[in-house]
Amino acid sequence: MAGVDEGREVYPAVAMYGPCNVEGLDEGQIKMWCSCGLSKNQPWCDGSHVDTGIKPVMWKVPKQQSLHQICACKYTKTPPYCDGTHTMLPEKLAEKKEKCTDKEKHNKESCKLCTKCSWVPDF
Ligand code: FES
Repeated sequence: MAGVDEGREVYPAVAMYGPCNVEGLDEGQIKMWCSCGLSKNQPWCDGSHVDTGIKPVMWKVPKQQSLHQICACKYTKTPPYCDGTHTMLPEKLAEKKEKCTDKEKHNKESCKLCTKCSWVPDF
């Protein structure tokens, strides 16, 4: 499995360390997948990405199926589907936050997500 750092410049927040099981989608339906991790409507966008530099990903439901496992960690390499990347994230991101070069921005009221390390304030 490829590392979370491979080719990555922006680190989204982790909404959940595992997928959302989504039922009831229709073929051809358009959904906006949250890729910043801040949405309160996981796994879909609620506009929380504003000012993060991260944009949602448009997804057209390819076919009718009873269940879709949609990534909520935001580090999948096959968006919006879970590819198992979430299993290795906690340790990798803890290290990334520890070594973050933008730590002085953490805890500032204006910082809702540090895209250099995935830091978010406690809610
Ligand atoms: S929830 Fe993101 S890869 Fe599984």
